[in-house]
Amino acid sequence: MAKILHIQSSPMGERSYSSRTARFFLEAYQAAHPQDTIEELGLWKTELPVFDAVAASGKYKIMRGLPHSAEEARAWTGVIETIDQLKTADKIVVSTGMWNFSIPYRLKQYIDIIVQPGFTFTFAPDKGYSGLVTGKPLQLILASGGEYPAGTPMADFDFQKPYLEMIFRFMGFTDIRSLRVEGTLSPAAQDNLQKIKAKAVEAGQHF
Ligand SMILES: Cc1cc2nc3c(=O)[nH]c(=O)nc-3n(C[C@H](O)[C@H](O)[C@H](O)COP(=O)(O)O)c2cc1C
Repeated sequence: MAKILHIQSSPMGERSYSSRTARFFLEAYQAAHPQDTIEELGLWKTELPVFDAVAASGKYKIMRGLPHSAEEARAWTGVIETIDQLKTADKIVVSTGMWNFSIPYRLKQYIDIIVQPGFTFTFAPDKGYSGLVTGKPLQLILASGGEYPAGTPMADFDFQKPYLEMIFRFMGFTDIRSLRVEGTLSPAAQDNLQKIKAKAVEAGQHF
């Protein structure tokens, strides 16, 4: 029995294109894998730990191999819980809209919490960086108001898909898949959602 973690990053509820596409995907997944469980981490419904000066100094202590002070250990309790939730899942789904050519700040906050030395990546002078979160497929479900086709000048503006792929690769993910619903601010938005539906169902059945 596998556990899926869905990191849901749009605040738009029923109007969200990324969340609606994720629902097509996850309903198809559940129908094909009735034994599996799906846990949703709604980034706008959950108070994520604040990553402030105390948490940052705890991070630098880990990098230097030093123990945490009591205050740093307290600040890191929520960080470790958030990382554990990711690492105990078997498969990860991230759904998000594009904000200012990148990702919404709640998703960036989540990334700043989970990308940690000794937990999700490690460094050795001879080997460089290695990811510690291995063997889990990742499905990205990406919405954007505009369109950013590969090979066009607009592709240079896209820091959503390349960034997410890079940061999850950094943590050890190698099987990274993506579904994109684009042009969600255009008159073709509903058509585009219907077009992605069949692809989302197919991808969900085979995740
Ligand atoms: C704060 C904000 C910034 C946005 N910036 C961009 C952008 O840079 N490029 C773009 O194509 N769409 C942009 N959009 C439009 C969203 O990407 C689009 O509405 C998308 O459907 C959002 O995902 P959601 O429907 O899952 O919430 C922005 C929307 C918001 C609210």
